[in-house]
Amino acid sequence: MSAPPTATDTNGGHGAGDVAVAAEKRWAIVVTLIIVVLIAMMVLAGLHWAAMPPSRVETIDVRTAHMQGEFVESNLGTAVDADGSVTVRLIAQQYSFEPQCIVVPAGVPVRFRGTSTDAVHGFVVGTTNANTMLIPGFVATFTTTFDKTGELLMPCHEYCGTGHEAMWARVQVLPPNEFLARARAEERLNCVSR
Ligand code: CUA
Repeated sequence: MSAPPTATDTNGGHGAGDVAVAAEKRWAIVVTLIIVVLIAMMVLAGLHWAAMPPSRVETIDVRTAHMQGEFVESNLGTAVDADGSVTVRLIAQQYSFEPQCIVVPAGVPVRFRGTSTDAVHGFVVGTTNANTMLIPGFVATFTTTFDKTGELLMPCHEYCGTGHEAMWARVQVLPPNEFLARARAEERLNCVSR
């Protein structure tokens, strides 16, 4: 008749204890390898970008962005240029977008141009592919077409501080005719207050 195993038998000197130590060592090696691979990727990516910088980087002076140039307040919002192209200009700052509500036409390519004046922000418009980061000192730009009319939410999607969750704007996608009628009447479009 043998005695039931005691706590010392299972957790102590050998048996399960050795297995646990061996498993921990294996995982320590795996974790170390992952960290080594990540650091190697960072170093290689850094060297790659340093050797071949992106061809189109647009910079802007954050200290004067509010006062002069493309991103002064009176130039923010949606503009229809002489050639008919539609451009939205916006600024992100802790913790709001300017303008707070953006008007765009449906079915027409819309170019976004934006920057940040403080922290790194970003935005995504509803479930569309309109999605970018806004980095202080750089101008982000992309072109997208909104398929459907309606109102979309545009939240900040880069953690930018304690007010991050409350940082969002709205995008109203109007039928092209309605949009053009408004564009003829106003130079810079923002939302209709409804
Ligand atoms: Cu701005 Cu998060």
